[in-house]
This record gives sequence, C-alpha cells and structure tokens, in this order.
Amino acid sequence: MTSLLCLSTPSDAHRWSDERRRDGQSIGLVPTMGALHRGHTALIERSQALCNLTVVSIFVNPTQFDRSDDFDLYPRTLDDDIALCDSLGVNAVYTPTVDAMYPDGFDTTIDPGSLTYRWEGEHRPGHFAGVATVVTKLLTAVQPHIAVFGEKDFQQLAVIQHVVRDLGLPVTVVGEPTVREGDGLAMSSRNVHLAPGARAQATSIKHAIDRALDRSTSTGSPSDIVEQVTTDIQQAGGTVDYVAVVDRLSLEPVADLNNNTQLLVAAWFGGVRLIDNAALVATE
Ligand code: PAJ
Repeated sequence: MTSLLCLSTPSDAHRWSDERRRDGQSIGLVPTMGALHRGHTALIERSQALCNLTVVSIFVNPTQFDRSDDFDLYPRTLDDDIALCDSLGVNAVYTPTVDAMYPDGFDTTIDPGSLTYRWEGEHRPGHFAGVATVVTKLLTAVQPHIAVFGEKDFQQLAVIQHVVRDLGLPVTVVGEPTVREGDGLAMSSRNVHLAPGARAQATSIKHAIDRALDRSTSTGSPSDIVEQVTTDIQQAGGTVDYVAVVDRLSLEPVADLNNNTQLLVAAWFGGVRLIDNAALVATE
C-alpha cells in the first residue's frame, strides 16, 4: 500500500498544506517537470533533510517552452515518477493539469526583469516569464517553508531567488549542487534524446569546464576561458549557444576572475540543447 498522496488541483494542495501547517509540520517543495532522475532525487533528499514533509510537483509547464517541438517531445513518465517518489518516502505529489493551472482567461505573467535579458533568457524568449509564473503558482498552492532547486539551472535559480525576494514570498529557496553521470555529463531529463554519437560528444562540455577549472587555465582571463571552452565544445562536434564568465549575482559578464564568478555554458549536440555551469575561482 502506498502512503503517497496525489494532489491534483491548487485548492487540494492549498487545503492539504493549511492542515499540515496548522499541525506544526514543516513543508519542503521540489518543483519538477517529471522524467525524474538522480538530480531530482538529490533535491528530494535535501528537502527531506530540512523538513518533516516533502511535496514533489510534477508539471510540464507549457508556458516556459519557447519551441512547441521541445514541449511535445519532453519526456513524460508520470507512473514511474510517482513510484519513485513513493519509494523515496515523499509525502505528496502535486500533479495539476494544464487546465487547473491555467484556467480559461488566465492572463497574468510575472516578468522577472533584468536577470533574464542574457543567456537562457536571450536564447529562449519568454522562458523565464513562464518559469517565474509557474513557480509562483506552485509556491502559492503548496505554501512550503522551503523550496529546493538545482544549481544545474544556474540562471533559473538566480531568477527564482530574485522573484521570491522582490515579491516577498514567505519561502526559503535552497540550491542543490549539480548531479552528474559517471562521465561528467550533467543529468537532465532531455539526455534521453541524445543519440549515442551525440551522447559521447556531449561529455566535452564537462571536459571543457574541467580544463577551465584547471589552475593553469583559470589564471587566464575570462575571455581566454570563453574562447577555450567554446573551441573545445566545437571541436567535439557541439554547436555553442553561449559560453560566458559572469558575476554570480548579477549574471553580467566580468573582465577579471574573482571569488564570485561562474562559468555558464549552453550548447547543442545532435539536436539536443544542454546547459551546464561551474564556479570559477581566481588563483594567484
Ligand atoms: P526540471 O528540469 O524537471 O528540473 C527540476 C529541478 O531539478 C530544477 O530545480 C533543476 O535545476 C533540478 N535539476 C535538474 N537536473 C539536475 C541535476 N543534474 N542536478 C541537480 N539538480 C538538477 O527546472 C524545471 O524542471 C522547471 O523549470 C521548473 C522549475 C519545475 C518550473 O517548471
């Protein structure tokens, strides 16, 4: 018998949360689009370490996809996801339908502002407005004390922290480090779309990042690092959307490395778009 509760409407989630909060329970939310992998599992375990109760939301959010083919092809494995959540001891999954999230006449969007002008925001118009709006709706329905997000989507984490601060939402946002495959590829629901050749080429992202992190290279300037990472990925057969060395808070490019700089990468392999990032620390 499963003890896993399935909540399917915002008012169900709200009611459940109200009751648990009244009982003095702490609630952690892990927002996902499903096709769960070990990256998601790490977020769930972090939530469980921080709160009495953990809710996983599973909702493939149409408003954050800039390409309809990406939305249509996004992997959907709801039964397996629910079984995994159950085996991990998750207390509830929240799986609203598109109609429940966006009823007829829905017309409100949260525009997260300047943090979205570059990088993912520039390459995926409307993406972060979709993310900010859906995450705000998920937080409003589930009313968690904490919400856990992956550093894998570095700009997304920064945008959500910014929205939560600007709107004064009563939740603590927690970031969890990127979980990788044995060969270094960052786990992603989209990795299943990589054909074997592209899958092998895609490891070049992490190799290029590691080379940038090498003491010898990281004494180079951000522009040297951008050039090296771009070349490494291109030579492996990838098509680069952007490689950037940015300030971790403003996400603006930096001229010099310091202790607050982050390397951001987005590249295509065989028709699949992958992103990755790493902290770059200046060495003497
Ligand atoms: P999704 O891609 O399913 O990711 C859900 C969460 O898992 C995000 O916080 C993401 O950063 C994190 N995650 C994904 N891969 C990871 C990895 N390899 N290591 C650690 N964490 C990882 O991101 C979304 O969904 C959506 O945009 C969402 C926030 C749910 C809004 O719709």
